[in-house]
This record gives sequence, structure tokens and C-alpha cells, in this order.
Amino acid sequence: MTQATLTRKDFLSVLDLDATDLERCLHLAAQLKADRALGRLAPTADALNGRHIALLFDKPSLRTRTTFEIAVRELGGHVVGLQPDVALGTREPVADVARNLERWVDGVIIRTFSQDVLKDFAAAARRLHVVNALTDEEHPCQALADFLTLQERFGQCRGRTIAYVGDGNNVATSLAHAASMLGVHVHIASPEAYQLPHTVVQQATSVARHGARLRLFSDAADAVAGADAVYTDTWTSMGHEDEAELRRRIFAPYQVNEDLMALAKPGALFMHCLPAHRGEEVTADVFESEASVVFDQAENRLHGQKALLLMLLAPTTPL
Ligand code: CP
Ligand code: NVA
Repeated sequence: MTQATLTRKDFLSVLDLDATDLERCLHLAAQLKADRALGRLAPTADALNGRHIALLFDKPSLRTRTTFEIAVRELGGHVVGLQPDVALGTREPVADVARNLERWVDGVIIRTFSQDVLKDFAAAARRLHVVNALTDEEHPCQALADFLTLQERFGQCRGRTIAYVGDGNNVATSLAHAASMLGVHVHIASPEAYQLPHTVVQQATSVARHGARLRLFSDAADAVAGADAVYTDTWTSMGHEDEAELRRRIFAPYQVNEDLMALAKPGALFMHCLPAHRGEEVTADVFESEASVVFDQAENRLHGQKALLLMLLAPTTPL
């Protein structure tokens, strides 16, 4: 079996994949997870032989940076760890950074603030594959791990319902994009000023398949009623630290606790992209409960991203 080439050279958004690509990526991720035990004997162990992938992180990271470094190495490639003192767009124009890197490396994995900066970067370098490792607006690599985790638990996800409770942020956006493409219903409960942006609702609606519905709620209990999984994220995303106190007050009714989980379907999963703040968006008992699959999500970051790198950079690797 070989992997077909993606139509886009970059992965800036889940919307850069079509539904078939997304399903194929998740299928490949599951296969890579099973093959990991083979180590250097895995059929993909040299898929990125001689290729260089740079990592540029303007915000902190544990999971994304670590899993991308391991992913590149396990596929036989070389990691170039750039420091934030590259100062994207400050020391020199974003496009110039891209046009330099294009002469040396095959791909760049970027965590930064603005999605527009990422788009400018990707547009400036035609030969460079650019991957979004989180922006203020989207976190598409997280969504790959989230749906790999759901598929492991549910088999087919189509027709299931995920309730996302909290800030209508980057994680919620990518979750909504992927869910809609995979035929999964999403209920998002947020305070009024923190609802998922209208453009994201329109995007999710336009790519929805198999009758997937995205519904916004103001009441967490309404969103969670009967859900197969309950997802939350930090109330204060990176870059908004000066609003933390205000947000703690506004989001208090949106805490995922045992009472809220009891409204979901019996056996419903608890999900979180991490890092988590016990006593804020989730209580310690829910975080540590049997329902919690948060470390499966974290583990699956590796496998989802390996699949993505193969599809972007080595689509003809025999498997
Ligand atoms: N979930 C996630 O992206 O974690 P990091 O911020 O640690 O990379
Ligand atoms: N919404 C969070 C996700 C962290 C992985 C943030 O942007 O900080």
C-alpha cells in the first residue's frame, strides 16, 4: 500500500485535508502506532532519510514539540530545533525567514500567535512544507490525536456526539472542523463573549458529512446531555495570561465536574488537550477518573503527527 499525495503542501488547518485524507491519516496513524514496536524494522523507519525538519516555537510546549521531534526521528529524518530568537516577523520579515529555511530544510513545524503569520510564511516558500503546531486560531494536530483516541474507544465515530465545554478557542475550532468532516456531532457550550467564531461555524457546516451538526449552547448542562464524550481546555490560552482572573470568574459555571459528567451518556469519555488546571476547567476527580482518556490523547499526538509527516513529505513510502 502507498499513501496518495495530499493536494495541499501544508497543514495549517484541518480544512487543508479533505474528508478522505483525514480518514486516511487516522487509519495510517493507527497502523504506525501498531508498528512502533518494530523499532528500526518498521517499514517507515527510513521514510524521511536525508530530510531535515525545523521546529520553530514562539510559545511553550511539552507534547507538541516532544512528539514532533520523536516522530521525525522515528521516520529517519533530522530535527533542526530553532530558537524563539529567530523572532518571526520582528528581526526580519516572515517571508524572508521562510525563504531562507526553504534553502536548507524540507519542512517547518511552527507554533506561533497569528494564523495569518503562518499563512504568509507558507505562501512565501513554495517548496517548504509548513505544519501548524498551534496558533491563536487553530490546533489541527491536536484534532488528529483526538479523533484517533475516539476511534480507538468507539471504533466508528460517525453519529457520536462530543460536548466541548469552555472557551471557543483554537482547540475547539480544530475539533469542530474534524468532527464535521467525520460525521460527528459537536455541542459547544461557552460564555457569550467566548463562543466559537461565526466563521468557524460556517466552515464546519460547509464541510459537514453524514448529517453532522454543530450546535452552540450557553448552558453547559444542555450541551453535555447525552454526549458520548466531554471535552474541555484551559480557560486562559497562551497569550491571554493577563485576563486569567477575569476568565476564572466568567468560566466558573463551565467547570467539568462529576455532576456535569453525570448528564452525559453512561460511560462517556472525558477529554482534554492538556495542560490541565485542576479546580478550574476540570476537577481532579474527573481528570483522574476511569472516564479520562487525556493521556491516550497525549500518546496519540505522536502517531497522528507521524502519519501527517508521511502524507506530506513521503507519500510514496510502501507500507
Ligand atoms: N496539547 C498540546 O498542544 O500540548 P503542548 O502545549 O504541551 O504542546
Ligand atoms: N488553548 C490552549 C491549548 C494549549 C495546548 C492554548 O492555546 O494555550
